[in-house]
Amino acid sequence: MTVGTAGFDFIDLDPVQETFLDAALDGLSRPLKRIPCRFLYDARGSELFERICELPEYYPTRTELGILGAHAREMAALIGPDCELVEFGSGASRKVRLLLDALERPRGYVAIDISRDHLRAAAASIARDYPALRVTAVAADYMQPLPLPRAEGPRVGFFPGSTIGNLGHGEARRFLAHWARELAGGGMLVGVDLKKDESVLNAAYNDAAGVTAEFNLNLLARMNRELGADFDLDGFRHHAFYCHDRGRIEIYMESLRAQEASLGGRRFRFAEGELVHTENSHKFTIEEFRTLAAGAGFRPAAVWTDPARLFSVHYLAA
Ligand code: TRP
Repeated sequence: MTVGTAGFDFIDLDPVQETFLDAALDGLSRPLKRIPCRFLYDARGSELFERICELPEYYPTRTELGILGAHAREMAALIGPDCELVEFGSGASRKVRLLLDALERPRGYVAIDISRDHLRAAAASIARDYPALRVTAVAADYMQPLPLPRAEGPRVGFFPGSTIGNLGHGEARRFLAHWARELAGGGMLVGVDLKKDESVLNAAYNDAAGVTAEFNLNLLARMNRELGADFDLDGFRHHAFYCHDRGRIEIYMESLRAQEASLGGRRFRFAEGELVHTENSHKFTIEEFRTLAAGAGFRPAAVWTDPARLFSVHYLAA
């Protein structure tokens, strides 16, 4: 651990860098090619994702901010005084400010994110704006078991952005079950995107300005930059659609023609129309999510939504 001069502690668990090549080689060797979604968030990807959050079609971010703004006091009352907040995938740490402003004497804020430089900047700005708060930044992949420093009081998880929906149902259940035990005595606040009209969902992942496409295809650019691959960035397109039966948006990169690319000394062949899977984004009804959380050992205690019922924020007691 390094004690930062910028007013926060920094713990570097050295996430993903060393395994990007392995994950890419493994994922591209499969009959159904894929690149795990955690690799979307390098510095460039994180920047593009921040822009997605501002897009007119991408309602989740602004809707969740609206719910947090409208109900932060009720959330703070359920959480109680002196708590330590642990945020999974903290990004720009924008949403958490609404909670920190409403909480009674929050004891600490632990920000966990895979994007190291992004994390440093966000932690520094929280430390600057909340001088009484003990801020810890942890550079890590929170899907791996994390040795968090011992808590000296109640601890509450914060998992906004419907990132829970990016996990498979089994994975989501295991993730929640793990944190239901770790956060015992506290709880977890989780943002969950809701099922709705499919045209709204499809538009959110296919914006007119093409930012989502650039974000997704940044995976190819990143393999070229970091791994010396030679993907033709114009040879692929972004492809995302809502699958009704599975209740999720599926996101792929589609090869526009028969082509080959080399990576790590190997050649990979892509047929015309072949898909490389990058992400799923599951959508839930409020009841479906409460059932999932209860099955993982949490007690669903409260849920807030917006007037149009686009998005939901759940408080799960642990
Ligand atoms: N958690 C976000 C979501 O599922 C992530 C996301 C938004 C995303 N747009 C994307 C991931 C496009 C990959 C591609 O809504």
